[in-house]
Amino acid sequence: MDETEVRTGDRIIVFDTTLRDGEQSPGAALNVDEKLEIARMLASMGVEVIEAGFPISSPGDFRAVQRISQEIRDCTVCGLTRARREDIEAAAEALKGAAHPRIQTGLGVSDVHIHHKLRTTREGALKMGVEAVQYAKQYVEDVQYYTEDAGRADPEYLYRVLEAVINAGATVINIPDTTGYTSPEEFGTLIRGIMHNVPNVDKAIVSVHCHNDLGLATANTLAGVRNGARQVEVTVNGIGERAGNASLEEIVMALKTRQDLFNVDVGIDTQRLYPISRLVSHLTSIPVQPNKAIVGSNAFAHSSGIHQDGILKERTTYEIINPRDVGVPDSEIILSARSGRHGLRHRLTELGYTLDDQGFEKVYQRFLKVADKKKTVETRDLEAIVADEAEIFFQETYHLEHVQISCGDHSIPTATVRIEGPDGQIVCDADHGTGPVDAVYRAINRVIGEPNELIEFSIEAITEGIDAVGRVTIRIQAEAPVNGETRTVFSGHGSDNDIVVASAKAYMFALNRLIATRREAQQD
Ligand code: KIV
Ligand code: ZN
Repeated sequence: MDETEVRTGDRIIVFDTTLRDGEQSPGAALNVDEKLEIARMLASMGVEVIEAGFPISSPGDFRAVQRISQEIRDCTVCGLTRARREDIEAAAEALKGAAHPRIQTGLGVSDVHIHHKLRTTREGALKMGVEAVQYAKQYVEDVQYYTEDAGRADPEYLYRVLEAVINAGATVINIPDTTGYTSPEEFGTLIRGIMHNVPNVDKAIVSVHCHNDLGLATANTLAGVRNGARQVEVTVNGIGERAGNASLEEIVMALKTRQDLFNVDVGIDTQRLYPISRLVSHLTSIPVQPNKAIVGSNAFAHSSGIHQDGILKERTTYEIINPRDVGVPDSEIILSARSGRHGLRHRLTELGYTLDDQGFEKVYQRFLKVADKKKTVETRDLEAIVADEAEIFFQETYHLEHVQISCGDHSIPTATVRIEGPDGQIVCDADHGTGPVDAVYRAINRVIGEPNELIEFSIEAITEGIDAVGRVTIRIQAEAPVNGETRTVFSGHGSDNDIVVASAKAYMFALNRLIATRREAQQD
């Protein structure tokens, strides 16, 4: 097949790894309920394969794969393993309840990985890979094999590995550009080479998994599709190790918008792209950059006079995608205190939130307070409110009831907090600090006593204007190890018209996450 020859009418399988590679972003740790929430939305939008975690890596990952396997019945649920028996056994156990289980196993194929990471030879690595596939086949029919760092490997060796693992029973062969090193032309040539030189390639699906170290993950993935790959590995908002992975929304919209070029089908409900982007951003506390393609807040904003004039005359002069097609809510519908429960529920559904009655009522009460201070509540305010009601997604252990701060250029910043503890008892305490935020954090620490270090703090205005809601995002590093969990960084966010209160909420969010993770781990 030459570069321009594309198999017509082919279907692209979307393999989402937000819950595995995406969750490897520092501080993005999600709890089991949050992962399930994301998995439900991925399933409802037509994602075919969900990589739910790396079961042997931590009890939390194991439980997440197990729960998602039990509850998400229409998708293939995949668990990652190294090419080791104990990893494969853990994945098989976690996937036991899945309607369509898949084990992804594999190891490095570049010389740098083989010699320095695996400390073996090419032949030794090939043998390990084949044995891993054979072992995984004893548990599940569907086995995906990843050839780590394929982007920097010798293609001739890669072909041999692929032929051997397909013979051993691999149903999908994953070609990762693990380090994001290749250019689109090189990566496309690599996939074309595989299609031509691996004799049994027709017995497996070729998958592409590209990282974004040079900002080329989307371009490389698409080059893979142009050259025969039929599964794309993506994450929502492109989150993932280091600079991240190819993003779900970019790949889907490129394939759909340029159907004339790619000539493939991708069965995703594109109207869910914006809602899932918001959900993942909120749950991981990883903001989406404003100029991010498809889902950034400026993706459909036209600011120059010439562009605005063009858009008013004919939308397609400057827009290749209709924002409604990707689920960006209709900004003409304005929410105010008069919108009532019905109006609010409608907008929340549009944004992709399915809240139970209790969760909805909490959001409604917060919404009324914001609407009282601002005349109109914008979508971004609303998203902040939902994100703030952390309890919707997990049970808070400590609840911040009240914060009082005194500060100024002639006073010692002092904070008093009132916190409800796990047994319902209310504790009040106060402390002073170098600034108001420091004072609040110290006062909270006096009540909760969970040693940690604040490693990141950022603040932004969610909407324009002096009455804007401020949003604080933080990351904390637990001092004590969180039993068996590999992650010790926890993120949190909080929003309020008062930025010190927002800071306190963000800190409580991160602390509650840390405590919940420790508690979950102790239950194992
Ligand atoms: O980037 C990579 O190589 C991976 C594999 C584990 C699939 O994430
Ligand atoms: Zn990866």
